[in-house]
Amino acid sequence: TPRVFSGIQPSGNLTLGNYLGALRRFGKMQDDGIETIYCVVDMHAITVWQDPAALRNQTRELAAAYIACGLDPQKSILFNQSQVPAHAELAWILNCVVRIGWMSRMTQFKDKAGKNAEKMSLGLYVYPALMAADILTYKATHVPVGEDQKQHVELTRDVAAKFNHDYGVDFFPIPDPVIEGTGTRVMSLRDGNKKMSKSDPSDKSRINLIDDADTIAAKIRKAKTDPDALPSEAAGLADRPEARNLVNIYAGLADISVDDVLREFGGQQFGAFKPALADLAVNHMAPISSEIARLLAQPDEIDRILANGAERADAIAAPILAEAKQIVGFIK
Ligand code: TYM
Repeated sequence: TPRVFSGIQPSGNLTLGNYLGALRRFGKMQDDGIETIYCVVDMHAITVWQDPAALRNQTRELAAAYIACGLDPQKSILFNQSQVPAHAELAWILNCVVRIGWMSRMTQFKDKAGKNAEKMSLGLYVYPALMAADILTYKATHVPVGEDQKQHVELTRDVAAKFNHDYGVDFFPIPDPVIEGTGTRVMSLRDGNKKMSKSDPSDKSRINLIDDADTIAAKIRKAKTDPDALPSEAAGLADRPEARNLVNIYAGLADISVDDVLREFGGQQFGAFKPALADLAVNHMAPISSEIARLLAQPDEIDRILANGAERADAIAAPILAEAKQIVGFIK
């Protein structure tokens, strides 16, 4: 039976990239009658420094964002990672399966660490093994993510296969990344070759889920573009990363194809397209940010939802972890 698992880090500043690449798609998947498990990965978040009080707020804010974007905590399981011990325990076993060389190839670590690799936490380095544990401790089959997480899901497949091979079992299913639609690679508003990221030092590079209408409109007005009119078909965007990004964002928000957007706006200048995009974005995001604010006014209720989700998650994860420990040779 198909089982969906995905996670998002509560590291603040949820962006339009997180929304189009992940959050919005999660809410849609649960309606197909599949089992869906969504996690606030607080253990991943502390791989870089998090102020404890801020982390608590960000965890609740992300839980609220999941719900505001359409996740129903009755239909889906919504919880924070640290409340289910199987993640950490299985991660240790997988740390002993994965090879150092596999980790060294992870581009996200290289991007984040830059020249300072020696000064990063060891947790940041082994982060992908924890992510593999997240997925495998539920025997999840489908992992919806944005393009930037593809390599980590591929590593998870390799880890699952190596575990099965080393122990001579057919235990972990090999999970598939699900990377579909126009929103899986949203780029910076300042540089069409860089992904939109919550950690970009420039706030103008991204739209945050909680930006107000004026801020969103201003950021889109100032977004980098080129002087040409929009082309009438997608091929015309090939060498125009900024133009392509804005058209993609429009398509993602409106839930239509890039060709549909260009049928409407082909031949028009950005002076006409940007206000239309700003309207669309504002109309789309305003109800989400006010719903997040409404939910955050009742932090106890959010904590209750997370605790309930953790209990249901644990009921699935604990027996799978127990079996993995037995396979490895641990006495109980
Ligand atoms: P994180 O928290 O960086 O991002 C959460 C989700 O948002 C997607 N995303 C984007 N999609 C499109 N365009 C962008 N600019 C953009 N930026 C972010 C990400 O691809 C992701 O789907 N390691 C993960 C969290 C994680 C996880 C997991 C995911 C931990 N365990 C298990 C899936 C399964 C991360 O840091 O995502």
